[in-house]
Parts: sequence; C-alpha cells; structure tokens
Amino acid sequence: MGTLLTTEQDVVLQFNKKRKTRIQYRKPSVRNVPDTTHNKIKNYFIEESCTFLEKLGIASDGKVLKAHQDKYRQINKYIEIIDGLLSQIAPSDNLKIVDMGSGKGYLTFALYEYLHEQKQKHPQIVGIELREHLTNFCNKQARVLGWDNLLFEAQDILDYKGSQPDVLIALHACDIATDIAIAKGIQANAQLIITAPCCHQQIRKAMKSDNIFKSILKNGILEERQAEIITDGIRALLLEAHGYKTKVFEFISLEHTAKNLMITAVKNKNTVALDTDKLLKEVEDLKAQFGIKEHYLERLLFS
Ligand SMILES: C[S@@+](CC[C@H](N)C(=O)[O-])C[C@H]1O[C@@H](n2cnc3c(N)ncnc32)[C@H](O)[C@@H]1O
Repeated sequence: MGTLLTTEQDVVLQFNKKRKTRIQYRKPSVRNVPDTTHNKIKNYFIEESCTFLEKLGIASDGKVLKAHQDKYRQINKYIEIIDGLLSQIAPSDNLKIVDMGSGKGYLTFALYEYLHEQKQKHPQIVGIELREHLTNFCNKQARVLGWDNLLFEAQDILDYKGSQPDVLIALHACDIATDIAIAKGIQANAQLIITAPCCHQQIRKAMKSDNIFKSILKNGILEERQAEIITDGIRALLLEAHGYKTKVFEFISLEHTAKNLMITAVKNKNTVALDTDKLLKEVEDLKAQFGIKEHYLERLLFS
C-alpha cells in the first residue's frame, strides 16, 4: 500500500490478496503547503555567484543565464571529476596546468577559481588557443580578477614548447588536436592527462570501407560511432602503453551535449609492471581489422 499526499486529496494505492490494485481518493490529510525553507540547497563546486562567471558572460547579477545552464552544469561536473583525479596524484601547492584548446576559457577559469580561490593553492594555469581574440579576452578578464597565474597564449598547440605541465587538459579540442595534446602530455611525463575528444575525422577517413564490418558500417551513423570507438580506444591503449592508468566514460549526460566522452589518464606509480608489447600488439590488431594504417597519435609518439 502507498499513499500520496497532496493539498487537494490523498491518493491511496492498495493491493488485495490476488495482487489486484485499487486506488482510493480521500480527503486531504494536509491542506497547507509544507514549509520548504529547510530543504538542502544543492552545493555546487562553482557557485553561480562566482565573479568569473559574470566576467565571461555566463552569469548576470549572481545568476547563471538560461542560455548557459548546460555549460554551467558541465563546468561543475568537470570540477567534480578533476577534484577526484587530483587526489590520485602527488599533492602540490603550485601545480603547472596547461589547457590545450582553451576556447572561451570557461573551464580554465573554473579550475583556477576552484584551486586558487577555494582550495587556497597557487596553481599556474596556461590556456593555449589558436584564436587570438579569445586569448586577448581571457587575459583581460584574468587581469581584472587579479588572477596573475592564469595566462592565455595564442598559439597552435603543435608549437607549444612552454613549461612541462603536471596536468595536461584538452577538452573538446578538434579531431587530431586531442592527439597532439595527449602526445604533449606523455612527452612531458605529465602526472595527469584529461581529454574530452571532439570530432573523429582522422580515423574515419583512414578506415578502409572493405573491412570485416562493412555490412553494418555502410550506415553512416554506425560508421561514425565506430570511428569514435576505435579512435578513443586506441588513444586509451597508447596511454596505457606509456604507463598511464586510463578510464573512458561519459562525463555529462547526453541530453546536455553529444560531446560527452572523457578519457582520463593518471601516471602509474613506478612499481607498476608494463606490458607495452602486448598493448601495442592490441593496437596493431585493432587497426588491421579496419584496414587502418596509422592512428595519428602513433605518428606523434613513435616517429
Ligand atoms: C570546441 S572548443 C573547446 C573549448 C574549451 N576547451 C571547452 O571545452 O569549453 C575547441 C577549441 O580548440 C581550439 N583549437 C583547435 N585546434 C587547435 C590547435 N591546434 N591549437 C590551439 N587551439 C586549437 C579551437 O580554436 C577552439 O577554440
């Protein structure tokens, strides 16, 4: 039996011995709307009132604008994930973090806010972004906020030769930009690499149409999904072959963004024995099944 109490009526659901249901409508037990002031307000890592949200045009008067609700949810989810990942690496007061393809800087600023303002650490965060008007805007806002160790550089990430990061981030960087970022992270021996891949053109083009799955991959959407799986699966294997513990998961619900896959890689402690040959053989076998000559990340890592 179950009873639903509303201010207009009580709705009682009952079962008899034969498990048949009966619904009864009764006079309301409560007529006054309950006091909700005691309800717990959801705690966000990044509160709506954070000044940087306003500076970036996401919020106004301490409230996130309707058009940016999804981005705000994404920002919070991202900080929640990174908070968990940072606890898996060596603690540091002044982590060097590089965000490759930082775009409008929402996530870069959010991370600085979290580490600097809330955790009282002294991170050095650099956003690398091709589009100069975005880096100019982000630098201006960072200076207004007095965030001296948050810098943005207009540059192709391929040319990045700055300081070796402890943490390498690339969120929604286009196609092979994700591979470039992963390679830079591995080469810098970063402790943590976080990517949310975007489009997967390189492998889609490299897949031979005459592969063993051709009868199902003739459907464009399935071919696209397959290309994503192979691209990101091989990225994870190559990271493992370079001594990282990797995870691939959906980091935010599909209803908010289709680009919701995240690959995280935490550098193994030195004691972990690596079976690099086995992992690289798995990459070779995978590629062979789809007639793929090369994953772009291999070119960056091995040539
Ligand atoms: C979709 S946006 C993502 C922005 C941000 N990371 C986020 O998730 O909100 C991708 C950004 O990567 C930049 N980008 C793409 N390829 C790049 C490259 N090779 N070097 C630097 N930036 C690049 C683009 O200009 C774009 O602003």
